[in-house]
Amino acid sequence: MRGVLLVLAGLFASFSPLGCDQQGSIPEGDLLVLTVASQETDGFRRFLRSAKHFNYTIKVLGGGETWEGGDYISPPGGGQKVRLLKSALEDIQEENKVILFVDSYDVIFSSGPKELLKKFQQAKHRVVFSAETLIWPDRHLEDKHPHVREGKRFLGAGGFIGYAPNLKKMVSDWSGADSDSDQLYFTKIYINPEKRKSINITLDSKCRLFQNLHGALDEVVLKFEDGRVRARNVLYDTLPVIIHGNGPTKLQINYLGNYIPNLWTFETGCTICNENLRPLSGLQESEYPVVVIGIFIQQPTPFVTVFFERLLNLKYPKNRIQLFIYNQESHHEPHVRTFLEYHESEYQGVKLIGPEEDIDPVTSRNIGFEMCRDNIDCEYFFSIDVDVVLKNEDTLRILIELNKPFIAPMMTKPGRLWTNFWGALSADGYYARSEDYVDIVQGHRVGLWNVPYVSHIFLIKADALRTDLKDPDLFESATLDPDMAFCSKVRNKGVFMFVTNMHTYGRVLSTENYQTNHLHNDLWQMFENPVEWEERYIHENYSKVLKDAFIETKQQSPDPCPDVYWFPVFTDVACKHLIEEMEHFGQWSGGGNVDNRIQGGYENVPTIDIHMNQIGYEKEWHKFLLDYVAPVTEQMYPGYYTRAQFDLAFVVRYKPDEQPALRPHHDASTFTINIALNQVGIDYQGGGCRFLRYNCSIKAPRRGWALMHPGRLTHYHEGLPTVEGVRYIVVSFVDP
Ligand SMILES: *[C@@H]1O[C@H](CO)[C@@H](O)[C@H](O)[C@H]1NC(C)=O
Ligand SMILES: *[C@@H]1O[C@H](CO)[C@@H](O)[C@H](O)[C@H]1NC(C)=O
Ligand SMILES: *[C@@H]1O[C@H](CO)[C@@H](O)[C@H](O)[C@H]1NC(C)=O
Ligand SMILES: *[C@@H]1O[C@H](CO)[C@@H](O)[C@H](O)[C@H]1NC(C)=O
Repeated sequence: MRGVLLVLAGLFASFSPLGCDQQGSIPEGDLLVLTVASQETDGFRRFLRSAKHFNYTIKVLGGGETWEGGDYISPPGGGQKVRLLKSALEDIQEENKVILFVDSYDVIFSSGPKELLKKFQQAKHRVVFSAETLIWPDRHLEDKHPHVREGKRFLGAGGFIGYAPNLKKMVSDWSGADSDSDQLYFTKIYINPEKRKSINITLDSKCRLFQNLHGALDEVVLKFEDGRVRARNVLYDTLPVIIHGNGPTKLQINYLGNYIPNLWTFETGCTICNENLRPLSGLQESEYPVVVIGIFIQQPTPFVTVFFERLLNLKYPKNRIQLFIYNQESHHEPHVRTFLEYHESEYQGVKLIGPEEDIDPVTSRNIGFEMCRDNIDCEYFFSIDVDVVLKNEDTLRILIELNKPFIAPMMTKPGRLWTNFWGALSADGYYARSEDYVDIVQGHRVGLWNVPYVSHIFLIKADALRTDLKDPDLFESATLDPDMAFCSKVRNKGVFMFVTNMHTYGRVLSTENYQTNHLHNDLWQMFENPVEWEERYIHENYSKVLKDAFIETKQQSPDPCPDVYWFPVFTDVACKHLIEEMEHFGQWSGGGNVDNRIQGGYENVPTIDIHMNQIGYEKEWHKFLLDYVAPVTEQMYPGYYTRAQFDLAFVVRYKPDEQPALRPHHDASTFTINIALNQVGIDYQGGGCRFLRYNCSIKAPRRGWALMHPGRLTHYHEGLPTVEGVRYIVVSFVDP
């Protein structure tokens, strides 16, 4: 057996077209990756993670040195990199050591050392540089570049691989300043035919090893296959090993970096979502990180009281929370005041900026950040705009546990593709849809996504606010809106903005068309924010009415009233708001027969009431009848389909000394609904409704429950006397 193998090996050796230089593959142990980084940015962490994923051996140069200018996300003055490389190479004596020199903040490995070394060998040169479509920094050198039959012609200094002795030779005469261009230096060596030959340099023209994204965005796509994901160059049909978001392609490298290497695949889902967490479970309450929650009220917004109710329900020790509340709207002052009156003392601290202080929104955001920066105990700033509906009470805990410098929970709008993040930016910096946006919004891809823009709600580590994001002008820009300016600054500081859709967190309200001319303006929100409206105003057991067949009046009265049905429809809040709205409006009718509000001007059986159209609520009331009453009607009176048209809908007030009762009458309706708005025995005594033909009474109507009965002929009825207190009902004659 042994003999056969030897023969085979010999055969291969003699047929090898690579000649004597090909002595089998280069051992992975001979490879060393050198990179230069002075700061542990998110980009650097991403680079290291990808390297670790493939077991690359990395040596980081320049730690602790400061760069000669530039942001952290752009590489340092190139000369500094050459100087550091030169000095690092001096320590490397092994002749066969292979050095990969790459940038780090905008670089990701897409495959492992084995493939890299194989492709390096196949390039048949001692040094291989990444290639570029665009020439930079000196266009005049174009003609001096050797022609290539196919592929890219120009050298890129952001990545190269070579044998240590050749690299040593290449940088031996470096004596430039740190701020000089490394790209120009290497280019001049490459276009010099003697040096190119003696050092034995070539370019990776078809991106088999290196993919520079600048000038090449159309060439690169994600390739998912067999539980793996990497980048594919569709122009040359290659699978580059190293992806470099050089120049203005940071957003694209961020996008690719959400997947490569195998961070998210169809088979595995998110593989990093449980990495590097900061668990809170097991902590004593007093050990929870201190969080400043910034709440921003910048426009009249529906359901602000509900916002504060949800804030109270956040599962997080309140004595570890400080509140910063910025309210620009006097309309919302009562809501803020009521909240603070009852709950201020539960929190570790509260700072309120009201409308009278006349502080602009941008300044207020900075003051909020300062409140956290200045407090050495503050570990996080949690920013929430008041139009956020924070449904998930664990949101703050979840975000902290994910342990990112900047993270936002994905927020949606019901029935729309709108969210609080953008997956991509257009050329002018506005919204653009990324390829994966819809999949993320619809939950087909779940994980952590590094995106170019988030708004409305996010959590920032105080550390980031005290270092990379310490500038006081984060929201300022000559051209961009404050939210976009902020995101742009955060990106430029190299802080990744992650959004997570690993859980559902909540929604964002529509603030369009929000009118503030009523007492309870939220009542009018059923068109603009139907989901919130329903949650606030429709009884929690309403949905059971349709499921559990019908509820007859039998349950309450031993003598059932035929064809009279009874079901829960309004919440207590809805009842309270309707009463208060009517009392606030105040123009109760006199209860006489003459009534100019109705056609004909004559009311046979008058009540003391206010019509829905007097408070501008007919459209909303019609939608209420259509959405919530019609389905019940159709179930109870089979074969009858209502268009929920109504001539009259009104709130009636019964009072012993005003109008305590209503004499027997028919309603001018096909069917009538009559909803009790307050509670017998508590708000009033007496009351109720009696159907004369069946001699049955409904004497204890429950608050929020609707009585529904035919209007004419059979259901002659009367309102029983209210003997004490005030009773309110809302009545609507529906026809047809
Ligand atoms: C990296 O090394 C570890 C152990 O050292 C091994 O389990 C793992 O499979 C290696 N990964 C790759 C991609 O080679
Ligand atoms: C470059 O190196 C390769 C392999 O190491 C060798 O085959 C080739 O002849 C060299 N080219 C030059 C021009 O020296
Ligand atoms: C809804 O129904 C459940 C079960 O019948 C009951 O316990 C609950 O109190 C009801 N909710 C309201 C608001 O009446
Ligand atoms: C109507 O019902 C009441 C009590 O439910 C009873 O006292 C009365 O006699 C009944 N009247 C008629 C006419 O049946």
